[in-house]
Amino acid sequence: MPNRLDLPAGFRWGVSTAAYQIEGAVEEDGRGPSVWDLFVERPGAVKDGHTGRVACDHYHRYREDVELMRGLGLDGYRFSIAWPRVRPTGAGAVNIGGLDFYDRLVDELLGAGITPLPTLFHWDLPQALEDGGGWLARDTAYRFAEYAEIVVDRLGDRVPAWITLNEPFVHMVFGYALGIHAPGHALMLDALPAAHHQLLGHGLAAAVLRERGHEVLIANNLTPVWPASEKPQDVAAAAAYDALHNRLFTDPLLLGRYPDLSAYGVGDDLGGSVRPGDLELITAPGLDGLGVNYYNPTRIAAPTEPDGLPFAEAEIEGVPRTAFGWPVVPDGLRELLVGLRERYGSALPPITITENGCSVTDEPAPDGTVHDQPRIDYLAGHLDALAAAIARGVDVRGYYTWSLIDNFEWAEGYHQRFGLVHVDFETQKRTPKASYAWYRDLIAAHRARP
Ligand code: NOJ
Repeated sequence: MPNRLDLPAGFRWGVSTAAYQIEGAVEEDGRGPSVWDLFVERPGAVKDGHTGRVACDHYHRYREDVELMRGLGLDGYRFSIAWPRVRPTGAGAVNIGGLDFYDRLVDELLGAGITPLPTLFHWDLPQALEDGGGWLARDTAYRFAEYAEIVVDRLGDRVPAWITLNEPFVHMVFGYALGIHAPGHALMLDALPAAHHQLLGHGLAAAVLRERGHEVLIANNLTPVWPASEKPQDVAAAAAYDALHNRLFTDPLLLGRYPDLSAYGVGDDLGGSVRPGDLELITAPGLDGLGVNYYNPTRIAAPTEPDGLPFAEAEIEGVPRTAFGWPVVPDGLRELLVGLRERYGSALPPITITENGCSVTDEPAPDGTVHDQPRIDYLAGHLDALAAAIARGVDVRGYYTWSLIDNFEWAEGYHQRFGLVHVDFETQKRTPKASYAWYRDLIAAHRARP
């Protein structure tokens, strides 16, 4: 039986997924194409040419997947809604058939005693909006707010809280700066308007949702930044990286201003995209919670090339690695959470861990079971760190592990397995792993608390 942690009353346990990573059924019931449908067709874009066309076939198997969640005893399920199912061209007619799917999913969840926590945008932009500039275009922010309104009108009677965006930093960097995710632009710093327009979209959508009495969160990928040494050049490089990765998103949300990006030669108008009044639109609606996706810290050194970026990434040595090669540093979560509270003080809303987990090279053993002890160790270590942050006074309300089931890991295809449940992508057979039983027992141990 896993140890009980000292967590506040009402602490919520969950799992996370995202539409394109699990649903499949990309042409069904009127869904339009998303940027990912096109990106996966580019030769070399995704390992082994994998695509999300079928993924976990969750669109047809959602009942079975909700049963798996019921078996865990979850309080909440974080999933994402595919914008191109709801509004196939991003701006034109609403597709009732697409909304119907989420309607069925929400009812199934409620029937299992699980609160739905939908994310409105997890990277699958309607391709028609990309054709008009995607998140580089200001207009996309307004279309996003309209889409939020359409969804809340349909599901809002049963869904109390919403996450607007997932990891706008990763979407900007991988999708627009480096071109390794959809929509595949390699614009380097010219990608910055994609950060501002996502945040503007968040603000506009948050206003719609909060006016209707809903709770609003945003899920940011945050990382503690470690200077490679105490040398002033490394410390300055780490501060520059922290500004781009963390503060570019949390400062405007919580403080109403962008951080100093002068190390990048960028002004606080983010490449001319920020207009008067925009920061007010981003901050004023307020946040009911800050979603934190945590995987690992980042170690940063001074750049080696004088004309490049003002930082260089350095290896973190002497720690275990996940199958993906990511360093495993559970205490980084405590450091991150305590650091957020120190930085933002009373401006920091309650935190929910909206993602945390690891990929393991899991395959069923001859006895049919999947022994993923590294995942159990990873989760247990991070939950200890979470409890330590709470003991230091950080207000954390819930923990959603990534992910319920193995799924389409973007440019890595199906090679990285993050699930508590193994998926055989040939047969779609689901096999709960050892970590599934461990997480179930952990949740039960906390429920049993007097
Ligand atoms: C971040 C993303 O939100 C999710 O889509 C991804 O699969 C996990 N982290 C793991 O990389």
